[in-house]
Amino acid sequence: MSNRLPVDHVVDEHGADGWKVSPGGLVTALEPVMREAGGAWIGWAGVADQEFDPFEHDGITLVPVPLSEDEVQDYYEGFSNDTLWPLYHDVIAPPSFHREWWDAYVRVNRRFAEAAARVASRGAVVWVQDYQLQLVPKMLREARPDLVIGFFDHIPFPAYGIYSQLPWRRQVIDGLLGADVIGFQRTADAGNFGRAVRRLFGYTTRGNVIEVPDGAGGVRRVIHRAFPISIDANAFESLARRPDVQERARQIRESLGNPETILLGVDRLDYTKGIRHRLKAFGELLNEGRLEVEHATLIQVASPSRERVETYMQLRDEIELTVGRLNGDQSTIGHQAVAYLHHGYPREEMAALYLAADVMLVTALRDGMNLVAKEYVACRFDNDGALVLSEFAGASDELKQAVLVNPHDIEGLKDAIIEAVEMPKKERARRMRALRRRVTEHDVARWSASFLEALTGAGVIPAGVSEP
Ligand code: G6P
Repeated sequence: MSNRLPVDHVVDEHGADGWKVSPGGLVTALEPVMREAGGAWIGWAGVADQEFDPFEHDGITLVPVPLSEDEVQDYYEGFSNDTLWPLYHDVIAPPSFHREWWDAYVRVNRRFAEAAARVASRGAVVWVQDYQLQLVPKMLREARPDLVIGFFDHIPFPAYGIYSQLPWRRQVIDGLLGADVIGFQRTADAGNFGRAVRRLFGYTTRGNVIEVPDGAGGVRRVIHRAFPISIDANAFESLARRPDVQERARQIRESLGNPETILLGVDRLDYTKGIRHRLKAFGELLNEGRLEVEHATLIQVASPSRERVETYMQLRDEIELTVGRLNGDQSTIGHQAVAYLHHGYPREEMAALYLAADVMLVTALRDGMNLVAKEYVACRFDNDGALVLSEFAGASDELKQAVLVNPHDIEGLKDAIIEAVEMPKKERARRMRALRRRVTEHDVARWSASFLEALTGAGVIPAGVSEP
């Protein structure tokens, strides 16, 4: 269960309706898992005021949950993406706290819990995903004590000093503790959660087990720990090996005038991604002559996201002003400094872009994991290409052979970009081989298997219920 289904409902210019792949890392990761596992995927179809019956899409059973226009504004754009998102990403943007947004969050979480309670068979495993649905575990446990309930948080869980700003900090944790296993991207996130539980509730934690009073004088054991998410690495590699994708990579290089170095950024247009810092560093490198526009081009794919939320509108204006200035100052008739693309692209095109890019720039200021970094590595079966990776992205815990950076340190970021651009081929290959080993061995199948094993393992199956 996740806020979004893997596909959004869309209507084309001729009025015909259809389904389009949803944005974001969550869907990239979970789609192959659901295809393997069977079961039903409960979520929102991405449009307001429309009801759809359950249906099959690409081998997965989808169960849509409707949202009204007001709920899209208050629960999705408001509480999820203008309260929780900035708060959980270390208040990079100021979170807004509104009581009516909270009320909508409670109401919609209840609707999701009711949908799961209706659909799940007896003793079923329900796996709730991400910050939009943190109250579901408790609501679902109350309605269906027979279920095994997991929760995975795809974004960071902040330190208590930040988390404690949330006026509903107790209710959110109480909601999460309805799960049997609560998963996080990084060990640090799980640690922050454990501390918040102790501070707010005083429950005992032993290692990764939290002892939650069961109301009958006993305790329920809730596991909290890191399960770093990943991608279907083989699927990305197979895409990259396709002759048409490789041909497309050649075309991309050619259409940019075959520069010596192509740098690439791929992000949802989000203030957590550090796109401004990246542009600043690149612009200064051109200004100082450490890079030359005849030889280096930055492709920045910024896919549209949460476009009605004010902070995102402001970010878009800032980014587009910066790109316009940078190109105005640095481009020549034949050579463009930044190729800026405000679009989402199909996976084939992404794989071609990854193959075309000599240097991949992932400079997030805060990011749960960042699957783009893993996609780049998975596509580079040629053991070439250099990855510049922010230490504030969860991926940096695993991808240690990347050129790691603090994106706030613009001088350090510039040096890291130059190091990646000038890295000898042998060194690139050595690092890429190690990165690829990590991503191929720790793929999304392994992630879901280890979570589900923790969930259905000894001690967490409710008494009297056989394993499904
Ligand atoms: C991140 C979140 C997901 C979310 C995705 C896209 O990856 O962790 O929960 O679905 O961004 O954002 P959107 O608001 O369009 O669903």
